[in-house]
Amino acid sequence: MKLPNVSISFVWVVLTCGLITLLIIVGNLTILGLNRPTIPTPTEVNWTEFQKGRLLLDQYGCGGCHIVPGLSKARGRVGPSLKNIHEQMFIAGVVANNSSNLAQWIQNPQSLAPGTAMPNLEVTEEHSRLMANYLMTPPREGVADWLRALGSEREEKVTDPLRH
Ligand code: HEC
Repeated sequence: MKLPNVSISFVWVVLTCGLITLLIIVGNLTILGLNRPTIPTPTEVNWTEFQKGRLLLDQYGCGGCHIVPGLSKARGRVGPSLKNIHEQMFIAGVVANNSSNLAQWIQNPQSLAPGTAMPNLEVTEEHSRLMANYLMTPPREGVADWLRALGSEREEKVTDPLRH
């Protein structure tokens, strides 16, 4: 029996199209879902580090240029607001937003975006990690209560970032 070449190539075309469609779907899922920063739950948060990160953002004077969540006096408008930065896909529009890229940005913005207006503030590796972690730790419902349960002393120092 004569199977025409045409139908064999047709099968290949269908298979290739199917494969391409599959790759596009998987690719989109990766971009939309898997690449999103993972948000820790309250019990996964290291609250001592969280507190340190907030303090460091104050000490390095990030608030001179940025609105910083959890620091009511940080109202700078030189750069973008850092409130809800955990929801952003990119940092300064150039690299994927995740804790390690954010820490790198804080430590050396020019290494990711040469010519950016954000200055290199000589932040140590450890400090940039703590600040990045703080910024990537959004409080969610119930966190304020959770903090209150930790005691009044902590409550004063650690405020709910999104409520400021
Ligand atoms: C002298 C002003 C200045 C200071 C101080 C400063 N920044 Fe920035 N920052 C900027 C500017 C301007 C940008 C926008 C850069 C760009 O888009 O290229 C920026 C961008 C950023 C971004 C990316 C924001 C986004 O929406 O993508 C982060 C995160 C950031 N800064 C964190 C910090 C932290 C943390 C500190 C303190 C350690 C700090 N900045 C101190 C000026 C400053």
